[in-house]
Amino acid sequence: MKTLIKTLHAALMTTSLLAAAGAQAADVEVLHWWTAGGEARSVAELKKMLEAKGHKWKDFAVAGGGGENAMTVLKSRVVSGNPPTAAQIKGPSIQEWGAEGVLANMNDVAKAGNWDGLLPPVVANVMKYKGNYVAVPVNVHRVNWMWANPEVFKKAGVAIPKTWDEFPAAAEKLQKAGFIPVAHGGQPWQDFTVFESVVMGVGGPAFYKKALVDLDQASLKGPTMIKALETLQMVRKYIDKDAANRDWNLATAMVINGKAAMQFMGDWAKGEFSAAGKKPGKDYVCLPAPGSANAFTFNIDSLVMFTQKSADAKKGQQDLATAVMSPEFQEVFNLNKGSIPARQGMDLAKFDDCAKQSAADFTASAKSGGLVPSIAHQMAVPAATAGAIQDVVTQFFNSHTMTPKAAADKLALAAKVR
Ligand code: BGC
Repeated sequence: MKTLIKTLHAALMTTSLLAAAGAQAADVEVLHWWTAGGEARSVAELKKMLEAKGHKWKDFAVAGGGGENAMTVLKSRVVSGNPPTAAQIKGPSIQEWGAEGVLANMNDVAKAGNWDGLLPPVVANVMKYKGNYVAVPVNVHRVNWMWANPEVFKKAGVAIPKTWDEFPAAAEKLQKAGFIPVAHGGQPWQDFTVFESVVMGVGGPAFYKKALVDLDQASLKGPTMIKALETLQMVRKYIDKDAANRDWNLATAMVINGKAAMQFMGDWAKGEFSAAGKKPGKDYVCLPAPGSANAFTFNIDSLVMFTQKSADAKKGQQDLATAVMSPEFQEVFNLNKGSIPARQGMDLAKFDDCAKQSAADFTASAKSGGLVPSIAHQMAVPAATAGAIQDVVTQFFNSHTMTPKAAADKLALAAKVR
């Protein structure tokens, strides 16, 4: 991104001139990739709140789960001197954008709203660049979930596997009974999502952290990683032939309609079950991915604020940030999205059992050391490093010749990319 700096400064100069020449309308333009059923319902609530404050909502949705497409579009918009009011950006990337000098300081809004008192430090720190708030968190997603259709397991006469050792026998039975054991979409970020849950289940939180957060070379190419990659190879056997390019929400639909037994996906998948009128504990169950009950791979969505020139635009941005942190927004957005509020001290009475379990596990894992950032969802390492590691995971996932040992060596090399 460093190569963008000069262009960005030139572009910002142009923006200032434009702003000086005539005031902009207070459009609140938010770039995001929330386009699936549950996601769209969530974002519609934000739009409603902003419009109620008299602003004009300018939707800037870029389809493609996981956000790769959205980030490409965002870069070109910022380079051309026309950043949106805010964009869905997460984790260490917030620091990268901060270093470009294009983010707005939201400290006044944060102070007025007592954000420091309302956010756990692990969340607040991610929202700050050099100690100043530049972003606002909308939720906490848990990635290491397994979504299962209990009716399918019942029909196949098999229990839902709780460990990776139990997994192949269960999957064989499901397959024999005519079901697709694992619903999956063939996109790199989806492969990466399954990979990180498998690494967690096989290696546990301390290993996950060493390998995928600290990028320890010996862990990346060592025996535990090789075992995790063997497990991933085993899981791949139970995915159907049409998975290539399938969107994640279409894979969720396969579990919803009983074609497939389970999916490994973060709890935005729950937004799809909810949008389809399905009830947890009855129509579907949420379980930590095998072997990962003591862990919580977190994925916090946040809206990052870009510097605005006109007073109107600044006001719109401040109202957006205030709305996002309000208890009303944190409740309704997350009820639809499948996540839990980032704001602490909220009453979870309206939330379902999966969300309550998520909240309890978030707290418990924070104490036990099992709370770790998701690498597949841009929370753990710089974007370039995550991208290089994801490339290896996808190559391995889709190759029938690469050995787990060779893949582990490649992972260690990829981890050196910055
Ligand atoms: C985002 C979620 C989103 C999911 C699928 C994740 O990276 O954090 O908010 O629902 O991708 O698009």
